[in-house]
This record gives sequence, structure tokens and C-alpha cells, in this order.
Amino acid sequence: MAGRAHVLGDTGPSAPEHWDFGGPRPGSPPPEDMHLLLMLYARSEDVLRTVLSHQRQRMAAQGIRELYCQQAAHLREEKDGQIFFREHFGFRDSLSQPVIRGFMRPPPGEDYDTPIAAGEFILGHENEYEEKPSSPSVPAHQDPHGRLGPAEKPGRKDLGLNGTYLALRKLEQDVEGFDAFLEKNKALAPLGVEDDAKKKEWLKAKLLGRWPNGAPLKPDQHEAPDLGSQPPSNAFRFVQEDAGGLGCPVTSHVRRTNPRDSLAPNPELSMKMNRRHRILRRAVAYGPHMGESDKAPSGRGLIFMALNANLGRQFEFIQQSWMNQEKAGRLYSERDPVASNHEGGMMTLPIKPLRRCVMDLQSFVTVKGGGYFFLPGVKALEFLAHLKPPAA
Ligand code: HEM
Repeated sequence: MAGRAHVLGDTGPSAPEHWDFGGPRPGSPPPEDMHLLLMLYARSEDVLRTVLSHQRQRMAAQGIRELYCQQAAHLREEKDGQIFFREHFGFRDSLSQPVIRGFMRPPPGEDYDTPIAAGEFILGHENEYEEKPSSPSVPAHQDPHGRLGPAEKPGRKDLGLNGTYLALRKLEQDVEGFDAFLEKNKALAPLGVEDDAKKKEWLKAKLLGRWPNGAPLKPDQHEAPDLGSQPPSNAFRFVQEDAGGLGCPVTSHVRRTNPRDSLAPNPELSMKMNRRHRILRRAVAYGPHMGESDKAPSGRGLIFMALNANLGRQFEFIQQSWMNQEKAGRLYSERDPVASNHEGGMMTLPIKPLRRCVMDLQSFVTVKGGGYFFLPGVKALEFLAHLKPPAA
């Protein structure tokens, strides 16, 4: 990932030389490269500590050196028996996820699209181009016990079947800076939004593209709707209800990262193109909660994880061509207001009767580390577990 900084826009304070892991460390030799990511999940910190110490003993015994360890935990919220996750800016997160064909089916009317081909997320299956994604392979002689199936190339075995690729990023969030920015710019809220807290919430929602409670933004709606016990809907498209972005601005985070039916030249093609640039997101927060700022010397943010079968066409495309691209719709000099790098950037808010501009956007998110990983399927894990180290 560090080698792709120019594609991902990881510059300035987000440049790999400042990363906690995954970047070049001044003066250190190449073996500092990360070779392995171990993700440990547990229900409590006590259990996690025990599992971690066990794994550390095993790693030491195998000569594996630990480069970095990051603890993270979901900011959970329970409402009416349903569990939601929040991120540190205060939005409900993990709401919109692609539904995979043949695996899960959302109840009718809960999603904006039909399920997506499994090969967009899992290697060895057909993707949205009706092809199998390219898959890593090993020389056939390394698999004398026949644990892996044949690869496309003669003389090789397929290591990819039922595996996938993971883009992992440590994204530090400037929660105080974000809040101060909302405070400074709250007067942008339209007439009718009187209360200061509501003005800030309105602006915050416009930057992201959903209300903090997860409800989609609609034109002429100045306050977050009360969702009651309903989960936030994902069954919305833009063209019919909100072509001009009067509800969800064209350059907001949500509309940039998933433009749904709103790309040129028409909704049908837009949906088709969009299906080729989806990711499965699995974010977990790190650092203390909001309101505990004095206890946050090590910062807080998101361990962002995107799973996809093609890092270039899916994760990198979203980051480079949708989030960081200055041309979006009829706008020419804006980037993702929440998650892109900014030095005094701007964002257009289409509002009736006259649009407003958010000025002097600053970077609210700084990249602190990251890497690309291959997540093997069960067969590949078996193969790797039995692989003999090369003779010295
Ligand atoms: C700290 C940085 C980030 C924050 C705080 C953030 C926050 C959010 C929130 C609150 C949502 C709406 C809830 C949802 O639909 O799940 C969302 C949606 C989304 N974000 Fe981010 N995000 C961040 C970085 C990124 C990055 C780096 C990417 C990809 C490169 C990304 C891709 C997406 C996508 C694809 C959606 C779903 C849009 C949809 O389908 O409607 N986000 N994000």
C-alpha cells in the first residue's frame, strides 16, 4: 500500500514515512516489510489478552517478529434490540454493504440494487464481467499432496480459490477539529434550522451524505427524521428523487463512494458500472470515545478494512477516482469532504434558492498506516500450513 501512495493520495502528513506501520522506516532494512497480518477477535479485553499472549508465544517460537500491534473495538449502540456501530465523528456506520449473490438476500425493498456476483468479493467465482477474477498460483511441484486445484496456467496450482484481498488502513480522525469546523460554519444551515446543535447536525449530515442516525438525506428535509425502531434504509437511489443533490450533495462522502444510479450517461449504465466498484467494509474504531479527549494522547480513528477480489478496480478506484477526484458531476475542484486530504478545500451545497459553499475544508482524517493482504481460503490455508521452508 505504501508503494501506491501516489494513487491513493497519501501525501503530506498522510504520507507513508509518517505511518505507524506499513511504511518505510528511516534507516531500517527491507525485512521491516510486513509479511503477515494476524487479526484477533474476542468478546472481552481479558479474553483478548489471553489469546494475544498465547499467539505471541507461538510467533516467538516460529521466529516471527512483531512489528506493530493495534487494539480496536466497535463503538456499539443497542436500540430496540438492534445493534449498531458508530464511528468517532458520531455517525452510524456499516449500514450500506453489497449483498452477495447466492449468499444472502435482503428482504425485498431493503436494498437499492439486486445482489452482486460473488466473484467481486471471493476469488474463484464469476464476477460482474462474467469472468473469474485473476487468482494467485504456485508451481505444481510445491503441492505434492494435491491440496490445491489446478490453476489456469499449466504447471501451476490455484492458491486463490475462496480467498480474497484485504485493504487495511489506520485512519486517524480529528474529532475536535471536525467539531470546531462545524461550529465555525453552522451559519450555513438554511432558515428554519434555529437551534445551534441542529445547525451543526445539518452541516455534518451534508458533508457525509446521511444523517448521524443513518437516515438517508432527502431534498427539503432540514432535520434528521425520527427512525423509531426502524433501521436506516439503504433502498435509495439518486436520479429520480435527488438528481441535483438538494438532499444528498453530489460531493458528499456517501454519494462519492457509491454514486448508485447517478453517474453519466444514464441510470441504467450507472448501476452497471457501480456494481464493478463495490467493497465489503468492516471498520472497527480505535482510541477513546468522544468526550474523552483529554485521555486520547495516542489519537483515535478507524481501522478501515475493505474486502474485494480486485484491489485496483474496487478499493483503489473508490479512493482515487471517486473520493479524491476533483471533478464530480458538474463540479471541478472538490474532493471527499470527510475522508480526503484537504488544504483549504471547498464543497458546494446545492440548496434552494441559492447554493452555498463550504470553504476552508481541512483534513479531518490522516492515514497512519496500512497494507494490502491476501486472505486465503481454507484449502490455501491447509497448503500454507504444510509448506516446507526452502532449504537454506
Ligand atoms: C475515517 C474515515 C471514514 C469515515 C469516518 C467514514 C464514514 C462513513 C459513514 C458514516 C458511512 C455511512 C454509513 C454506511 O453506509 O455504512 C460511510 C459509507 C461508506 N464509506 Fe466511508 N468512511 C471513511 C473512510 C472511507 C474510505 C477510505 C472508503 C473507501 C476507500 C470509504 C467507503 C465508503 C463506502 C463505499 C460507503 C458506503 C456508501 C453507500 O453504499 O451508500 N469510506 N462511510
